[in-house]
Amino acid sequence: MKRGISLKVNGLVCEVYANPGETLLFCLRERLGLIGAKEGCGDGECGACMVLIDGLPRNSCLVLLGDVENREITTVEGLSVNGGLTSLQEAFVAKGAIQCGFCTPGFVVSATALLARNPSPSEAEIREAVAGNLCRCTGYAKIVEAIQAAACGEECVREDGSLGTSVARLDAVEKVTGKAQFGADVSRPGQLWGAVVRSTRPHARIVDIDTAKALAMPGVAVAVTGAELTPGLYYGVDLFDQQVLARGKVRHVGEPVALVAAETPELAAEAAAAVEVTYEDLPPVHDIDAALAPDASLIHEDLMDYEAGWDAIREGNACSATYITRGDTDAALATCDRVFTHTFETQIIHQSYIEPHAGLAEADANGKVTIWTTNQKPFAVRRYMSQALGWPMTKIRVIGMHIGGGFGGKLEMGLEPYAALLALKSRRSVKMAMSRKEEFQAANPRHASRITITTGVNRDMKMVARRAEVLLDTGAYSGNGPTAVGLSMFLVTGPYRLDNVDLSGKAVYTNKTSSGSCRGPGGPQAVFAGESQIDIIAREMGWDPLAFRLANVVEEGDVLGAGQRLQDVGVRECLEQAAAAINWGGEEEPDEGVGLACSWWTSGGWATSALINLNEDGTVTLITGAVDIGPGAKYTSLPQLVADELQLKPGDVIVSSCDTDTSPYDHGDGGSRMTYNVGRACQMAAEELRTVILERAARTLGVAEDLLELVPDGVRLLGHEEKALTLAEIAERGRVLVDGPIQGRASFLADMPSWDTDACRGLTYPSFLAPSFSAQAVRVRVDRQTGQVRVLEAAAAMDVGRAINPMAVEGQLEGGFAMGMGYGLLEEVKMREGVVINPNFLDYKLPTAVDMPVVKPIIVEEPSITGVHGVKGVGEPPASLPAAAIANAVDDAVGARLMRVPLTQETVLDALDAAGTTGS
Ligand code: FES
Ligand code: FES
Repeated sequence: MKRGISLKVNGLVCEVYANPGETLLFCLRERLGLIGAKEGCGDGECGACMVLIDGLPRNSCLVLLGDVENREITTVEGLSVNGGLTSLQEAFVAKGAIQCGFCTPGFVVSATALLARNPSPSEAEIREAVAGNLCRCTGYAKIVEAIQAAACGEECVREDGSLGTSVARLDAVEKVTGKAQFGADVSRPGQLWGAVVRSTRPHARIVDIDTAKALAMPGVAVAVTGAELTPGLYYGVDLFDQQVLARGKVRHVGEPVALVAAETPELAAEAAAAVEVTYEDLPPVHDIDAALAPDASLIHEDLMDYEAGWDAIREGNACSATYITRGDTDAALATCDRVFTHTFETQIIHQSYIEPHAGLAEADANGKVTIWTTNQKPFAVRRYMSQALGWPMTKIRVIGMHIGGGFGGKLEMGLEPYAALLALKSRRSVKMAMSRKEEFQAANPRHASRITITTGVNRDMKMVARRAEVLLDTGAYSGNGPTAVGLSMFLVTGPYRLDNVDLSGKAVYTNKTSSGSCRGPGGPQAVFAGESQIDIIAREMGWDPLAFRLANVVEEGDVLGAGQRLQDVGVRECLEQAAAAINWGGEEEPDEGVGLACSWWTSGGWATSALINLNEDGTVTLITGAVDIGPGAKYTSLPQLVADELQLKPGDVIVSSCDTDTSPYDHGDGGSRMTYNVGRACQMAAEELRTVILERAARTLGVAEDLLELVPDGVRLLGHEEKALTLAEIAERGRVLVDGPIQGRASFLADMPSWDTDACRGLTYPSFLAPSFSAQAVRVRVDRQTGQVRVLEAAAAMDVGRAINPMAVEGQLEGGFAMGMGYGLLEEVKMREGVVINPNFLDYKLPTAVDMPVVKPIIVEEPSITGVHGVKGVGEPPASLPAAAIANAVDDAVGARLMRVPLTQETVLDALDAAGTTGS
């Protein structure tokens, strides 16, 4: 029952008319507009909603309004002093402790409480104090560093320098103060809340969908089913095999079958539950073996009719088959001194961005729908919606918000078409957000895999040939399975010189949640398999694993992948530096061991464009369709590249947000492409702007252009100290006198390196742009009694070509290691009969600040000939190596070899048993 409730928030007393059973989080966000507290899980496990109640940190998603009447509530918005940042917030900004920023307010609140009760905490006390706050981006290193800096009273100064300096993110202040708007932070007066009716069956025919009961509920506005949509329209990343709402049949538990919108989120959820769907069950296919069996039930009867974006090879339940062949593997293996064959398995993990999918849609009088969303690819959302709903693009506008992490999980279409359909039908704004349970059951997690590898070696330490079969479980829809399987095949050979390779891969449909892109899709699976086998071989042959790798790693000019000739290869240096950082070859304590892994990866391509306006005060506005999921290129390296070209400071660059109606096209944030690819377009646009500035200045001054130079804030005659014209004067002259406003613009699509077309079939991407190289090394301790593996130290080295912003690059190395460590030790989406049985952060464990070792980031710079200023893509590779390095270290420590990740305590104990080395 609603009533007046008196609250004291950030020092102000207010009264709300609400149900005392409503959560404090909902009230703060939806009634008071205090969006700094975020909903990451709704069940007390992520800390994103942290506030202070009478000075103590509390998860506001678990606090009921009736329990906090007249108590002192402080949100992140209430921490600032005289409108400025606290020293703690300043430290977060300057130390690079913020990436996507969704978790940041929660950390700031927890750390504020810590410093209030313990002004000089130890590192262990800091980690303990924030152990209830999850961060998926940073690996916690820079967060801990920032809290330490604030505790010591260190003066934290933000850098605003040139290329190669650790400039603070331009969006850091709005994130650290809770002002940054993410998907769920957009609200409209009178908005409805949308909910999705999801399949409860893994594989079934839809006999009937009855929405009558739901629509009869007071406060329920509209419902939508697939029958209302234009039939025969499909969309997809690689293969167009998916419809917006299931029609005819469902293929996984959690698949959307209908939509409802109601006055409150609770009512929408109740209405969704009241929609009656009648199913006729079909035989489910739960794993790769069942899917590939000759008598397997077909999950997509129309597979061969689906439109594909590449020369697809498909059959049965395999939506994509891929082959790479070089040399004569059979003959080469026959000559080898030893041949090894092993099979490895990996699990499904969720990207576990802390911000769930969320957004809002509204329709205008002409039926045009605007969607505010946290999708990684706003332009692709518009395209997919147009394809899948049959709407012209003139009727769809997508606005990119701050994104609370993505890691590939927000590359596919999420809630956008659902909110749009409901908004169009109801003629009201509709807000939607996925619950954490929906995220686990119905988003696009990392593919499970089974990989079998045969490798032949000679006694001189040379690898001669490798054969591999990669099978990825892509779930109910192809997602980016075809691409992921191709990328796996590139990585399964490692960055090793191999003249004979015979690789095959399949992405296989099953009746599971559809898998999708996840930070380096296909990478961790292939690296775990390939690099585990490297160590197995080395130990079997009595070779040092580092020496074995160094004897075989690729060099400049070698051929790799599908016949690509390599340039700018930094893998040897990465291996040597990572190994040295953990004292490879030194004495080990009992039950401690060391492990290594190395790999390579592509810098992402795809089309992009940029526009730069010279403003009247001499600053510039960078207008880009790019969004940022956390790594921060949009707010660090892109303005740095523009500023460098124009002799400005990054802080002189305004960076626009993405709006498909007004921004120049960009493919989206994913694939380690932002600095390499979008950065190139920004640099080219800045170059054009510079040219126009010099032309205009030359005309104004009546001198030849080559007698002028651009200097900070203006143009001057060569050899003269005094400035001839400021940028503001040049801009103003264009605005009011002659030639008009001054702009630079550029479009860019990188040329793919050539490959051997005879060597491969069925690949969506046959070569790697500006390949980057990585190596990681870890030291672990294994508890033989419990099976617990503790990573004691780690080093993550990466050849990034050129570090435009070293602090941001370090953040990727640290955060990527944390994600990979979770993959290696903790995380698994567990399913029973297609139902996820651990759909929350209590049962699905992410690494916390307490779990993480100190990770030493090592930046190796082997400049790419094609990258702007030599850069290579950085974001994805660091997450691919830790599982392999850790498994290798465990074997080194206790002689237990695990062939499947994650290395849980149970599986480690089993392996110790099998090896006969369990503790007593
Ligand atoms: S939203 Fe409250 S702990 Fe996650
Ligand atoms: S910065 Fe912590 S979750 Fe993204």
